Amino acid sequence: MKLKSRHLLGLDGMSKEEITLLLDTAASFREILDRPIKKVPPLQGKTVVNLFFESSTRTRISFELAERRLSADVVNFASSGSSVSKGETLKDTARNIEAMKIDMVVIRHSAPGSAQFLTRVLDANIINAGDGWHEHPTQGLLDMYTLREKFGTLEGLRVCILGDITHSRVARSNVFGLTTMGARVSICGPATLIPRDIEDLGVKVYHNLEDVIPEADAFNVLRIQLERQKSGLFPSLREYHRFFGLTKEKVAAAPKPITIMHPGPINRDVELSADLADGEHSVILQQVTNGVAIRMAVLYLLGTTN
Ligand code: CP
Repeated sequence: MKLKSRHLLGLDGMSKEEITLLLDTAASFREILDRPIKKVPPLQGKTVVNLFFESSTRTRISFELAERRLSADVVNFASSGSSVSKGETLKDTARNIEAMKIDMVVIRHSAPGSAQFLTRVLDANIINAGDGWHEHPTQGLLDMYTLREKFGTLEGLRVCILGDITHSRVARSNVFGLTTMGARVSICGPATLIPRDIEDLGVKVYHNLEDVIPEADAFNVLRIQLERQKSGLFPSLREYHRFFGLTKEKVAAAPKPITIMHPGPINRDVELSADLADGEHSVILQQVTNGVAIRMAVLYLLGTTN
């Protein structure tokens, strides 16, 4: 079996079989990461360009490590210090880099649809590393991988995504992926940060954290984007923390321990208390480790079979 598309733009529309193939392939690569020599040859001779037009710590380093673990040649592009500051367009930047004979492009950009746009102007395989509010498919995959690793299956698993859903590409990729895999997905946050009609995607909506805590096996807590406060979507960080911040005291009401996830970067003691982030039920750093294996799987499946 192989992936239907030669690009990874999002998890919307991806089948259960394709997601399972990605998670199973990642499981075989995850084992390589624990070896003393963490390198295998499948992408030898391929050149991958990481085009990052937005800040990133985890995704950028994780993709680069994944590419190097698979023996690809790697080129990193950051928009700061590039000819973007002289007004060069995304299309011209990408086509000029492709003219240097590259095979795959990983792109992070603030504009939704930017990865899709590149599929129309380049021949390379395109991987979306986060496009505006649209999708962050490798984050969705690594979140599912981490949950499957912990619980054995995603079928019937009760996962709550907490926070700013409207502006979150992580939330969208998680909703598409988890519902396809048979998980029971809920979302929780202030009404101003939850899109209207989101129930149409097969999720249950909560506006009261205390109502969903007893019904969740895992929480995926989203970063509250501090700039949203200025736009009046929530009154203050203190108030947000009081009503929607996940804390040890609040999760103590759950009948059994809740698994804590966060895509990073964390605003400690705003959306998530520091003791939960670092606590025994947190899998936040496992998510980061698994991210390398997921990105290896994506690069491998697109680069060798598509
Ligand atoms: N989770 C995530 O996308 O983190 P970065 O913004 O650091 O890549």
